Amino acid sequence: MDSVLKEYKLTTQRLIIREPRIGDAELLMPMFSDPVAMRYIGNGAPRDLDTVRQSIRKRIAYFAETGTTLFTVALQETGEVIGDCGIFPYNWEGPEIELAYRFRQTAWGNGYASEAGRAVIDAGWRDTEINELLGVTDLQNHASQRVLTKLGFENLGTTGAYYDEELSHFRLRRPQ
Ligand SMILES: CC(C)(COP(=O)(O)OP(=O)(O)OC[C@H]1O[C@@H](n2cnc3c(N)ncnc32)[C@H](O)[C@@H]1OP(=O)(O)O)[C@@H](O)C(=O)NCCC(=O)NCCS
Repeated sequence: MDSVLKEYKLTTQRLIIREPRIGDAELLMPMFSDPVAMRYIGNGAPRDLDTVRQSIRKRIAYFAETGTTLFTVALQETGEVIGDCGIFPYNWEGPEIELAYRFRQTAWGNGYASEAGRAVIDAGWRDTEINELLGVTDLQNHASQRVLTKLGFENLGTTGAYYDEELSHFRLRRPQ
């Protein structure tokens, strides 16, 4: 029980990346309920509050088990929750470990995905035994592909191996 309540915080120049909490579901709804923000995520449909709560429960359980997860991201200056970023087993099944980041539209275009991604990756190499990260994006999600490239991921082309669709496929190996 103790570990479920564990706190975690990564601080970057502008962001706080912290452990997921069940109350984050409401705070993340501006992103999850937005059809534009969600168009390249999963089946492309917005998610309702119950679905988001279920997802947060998985994040909390995985964090308690491993010390990493899909974290909640807030702006340092205002405390506003703007999205999530983290590493977790592909589709919560694995075995690959995937990097993900999603932000509400009002936060786009400020370099936050790159800033959060960098911090999460560095913490992953430092705090876990993970040796390789997977990145997959919709073929049209050029902004996300650019983020992965900026984070040093190798572009492996396209793949049909994940999420039952053809996706852009990226990989990052632990630095030697
Ligand atoms: C994708 C997403 C995370 C990017 O977040 P962000 O904070 O705006 O990203 P950054 O500012 O760190 O970097 C975005 C980069 O993509 C570039 N970019 C933005 N839109 C682009 C487009 N349509 N085509 C090509 N490049 C684009 C930006 O110029 C920037 O690159 P630069 O720094 O070289 O100029 C954000 O748009 C988002 O949350 N989208 C909805 C959820 C999502 O799709 N998540 C990814 C799932 S794989």
